[in-house]
Amino acid sequence: MCGIVGYTGPRQAYPVILKGLKRLEYRGYDSSGVALMNGGKLKVFKKKGKVAELEELLIGKDVEANIGIGHTRWATHGEPSDRNAHPHSSASGRLAIIHNGIIENYAQIKKELLNKGYTFTSDTDTEVLLNFIEDIQKNNNNGSLEEALRIALKRVSGAYCILLVDQNDPHTIIAARKGSPLVIGIGKGEHFLASDASPIIEYTKEVVYVNDYELAIVKPDELILKNIGNETITPYITKLDMELAAIEKGGYDHFMIKEIFEQPSTIYDCLRGRLDAAAGTITMSGVEENIEQLKNASRIMIIACGTSWHAGLVAEYIIEELCRIPVEVEYASEFRYRNPIVNKGDVIIAISQSGETADTLVALEKAKENGAFIFGIVNAVGSSIARISHAGAYTHAGPEIGVASTKAFTGQLTVLSMMALKIAKEKGSISNERYLGLLNELQDIPEKVESILKNAEDIRKIAEHYKDASDFLFLGRGYNFPVALEGALKLKEISYIHAEGYPAAEMKHGPIALVDETLPVVFIATKDLYHEKIVSNMQEIKARKGKIISIITEGDDVTPGLSDHYFEIPPADELIAPILTVIPLQLLSYYVGTAKGIDVDKPRNLAKSVTVE
Ligand code: G6P
Repeated sequence: MCGIVGYTGPRQAYPVILKGLKRLEYRGYDSSGVALMNGGKLKVFKKKGKVAELEELLIGKDVEANIGIGHTRWATHGEPSDRNAHPHSSASGRLAIIHNGIIENYAQIKKELLNKGYTFTSDTDTEVLLNFIEDIQKNNNNGSLEEALRIALKRVSGAYCILLVDQNDPHTIIAARKGSPLVIGIGKGEHFLASDASPIIEYTKEVVYVNDYELAIVKPDELILKNIGNETITPYITKLDMELAAIEKGGYDHFMIKEIFEQPSTIYDCLRGRLDAAAGTITMSGVEENIEQLKNASRIMIIACGTSWHAGLVAEYIIEELCRIPVEVEYASEFRYRNPIVNKGDVIIAISQSGETADTLVALEKAKENGAFIFGIVNAVGSSIARISHAGAYTHAGPEIGVASTKAFTGQLTVLSMMALKIAKEKGSISNERYLGLLNELQDIPEKVESILKNAEDIRKIAEHYKDASDFLFLGRGYNFPVALEGALKLKEISYIHAEGYPAAEMKHGPIALVDETLPVVFIATKDLYHEKIVSNMQEIKARKGKIISIITEGDDVTPGLSDHYFEIPPADELIAPILTVIPLQLLSYYVGTAKGIDVDKPRNLAKSVTVE
C-alpha cells in the first residue's frame, strides 16, 4: 500500500521517479507527489488522482534536480486530496518525507505537538511523524537528522517505510523501514530506493533489501546501513533475477489480461525443474529438507489473505485428500488478533503473492515466536514473507502488476498440488498409480490452459451479455467451491458488481432467495464426484428462472441444456481442475470490467500490496 521511490546521483531525478511511480501505481493511486532538491532548495509537487495527473501538472515546471523522492498513495489517514498527498514538508520547510504504512500512535504525538504550537496542513499521520522528527532534532541541540529519526522511531508504533530529505544535506536520502518494504538499487555513483525492484531494474540489478528496524543513509556514492541501535550493518547485496519485459504490458491493453494470457508459461515455469512425470519425481528442496516435519505434522495451518486465502482453501481439500493431515485455513487478519493455539513444531503454510501483506506477515511472526515451522509459498522473490519463512517454494509467476491476482493464484495452486503430492508420496498415503496419474495431469496443465485461452472470445461475448447485471452468484462444490469464491471476488474487484460465492448445495440456505430472471448464476460444473449433485442445483436455479452460465467439461451433454450460456474446458482430474476452472472466471471479470469502462489494473479503492492492516 503506497509506493515510494527515491533517487540520488548524477541523473535528472524527476524522470527516474516518475517512471518508478508508474510502475508502483498498483500499490495505490489516490494521489501522488514528488519532492525534488536542487542546490539545497526543495520543491514539492503533489496532486490528487493517478500519477498521470501529477505528470500533467508538472509539464513546463522546473523539475531540475539530482535528488528526489516520490510517492503514490493509498489513503489511510485523511481522504484522497492534494493536501493529504505526500510528500509532506516540515514546519520549517527544511525537511520532506514520504511514508508507506501507518503510525498508530500518531494522535498522541500530534496532541503533544499541538500543545507546543505546531500546526498541520494535512490530516495524515505522516506529517505528524515529520514534525515530531524535526522537533526532536531542534531539542537535541540541532544534532543530526539521523539521530532525531532514530529517537522518533523508538517512540512510534505501527508500520513504516519512510524516505526523508533535508535541504541542509542536499545529496542524502535517509530511509527507515519497519513492516513496509524497501529495496535499494546500487548503481555507479548513484542509488535508487523503492518499495519493490520494478523502478530499479532498468538501471541496476544489484540491490539490498532493507530489513525491519534498519536505517539507510544514502548518498550518490555511499550507502550506510545501520540498525535502530546505531550499529553499522554490512549491506547484503543480491542480484535481481527479473527482466524489464516482465514489468511492461508487451502489447496488451492491460496488465491483467497480459497476466491471464501468461499462465501457460508461468505454470510451466512453476513446474519446470520440479516435476518430472516420466521419472515419477517431484523435486522441491524446501519440502525435501523438512520432510519429516511435514509428513508427521498432526495438523497444518494455512495463513493468507484475499485470493491467496482461496488458494489455501483449495489446498485444504488437496492436502486432506492426499496426505490425510487435517488442515485449517485462516484469514491472517483474524489469526493475528485472536489467541490461536500454536505449538512448537506446528506446521504453518503461508501463501502470499507479494510476500508483503501486513496481516500475513504479523500472523507469521506471532506463530514463529510460538515455535511454529513456517513454509512460505510466495511469488515475489526476496520479499519479507519469503525471508521470515523457515523454508518455502516460489511460485515463479514473475511480477504480477494487475491489482487482481490471476497468474499468482494458478502458480500457488500448482505449488500446493506438487507439495501435497510430494508429502503424500513420502508418507505413503497415496497409491503409486494415483500419484503417477496426477503427475501426468499436472504436466498437461499448461497446454490445457492454452486451449482455454484460445476461446477467450467466447467469454468476452458472455461478459457483454451480462455486463449490466447488478448481482452475480457463483456456485461450486468440492475443489471448485473455493473457485466460486475466487470468481465472485474477481468480479467484485474488477467490475464493481456485487457477487457472492457459495457452495452450490448451501445456496438453499439463503442465496436462493435472490434468484429471479435477472440474476446470473455462474456454475462451476465440471465432471467430477459432485457432477450429478450440481446438475440438481442447476435445475433448482432454472426452476426459479435464474440465468445460468456454466463452466463445464468438454463432451458433457447434460449441462448445456440447462445453461443459458456455457463454456467448455478440457477434462482434468478434479483435484487439479481448479487451475483450469478459474481461467474463464478471470476472463469473465476482465471482460465485464473493461466493457464497463473500468480501469481494471487500478480498480477503485484497492491496492495490490496491502502493507497496512
Ligand atoms: C490484495 C490484493 C489481492 C491479494 C491479497 C493478498 O487484496 O488485491 O489480489 O490476493 O491482497 O495479497 P498477497 O500478496 O498476500 O497474496
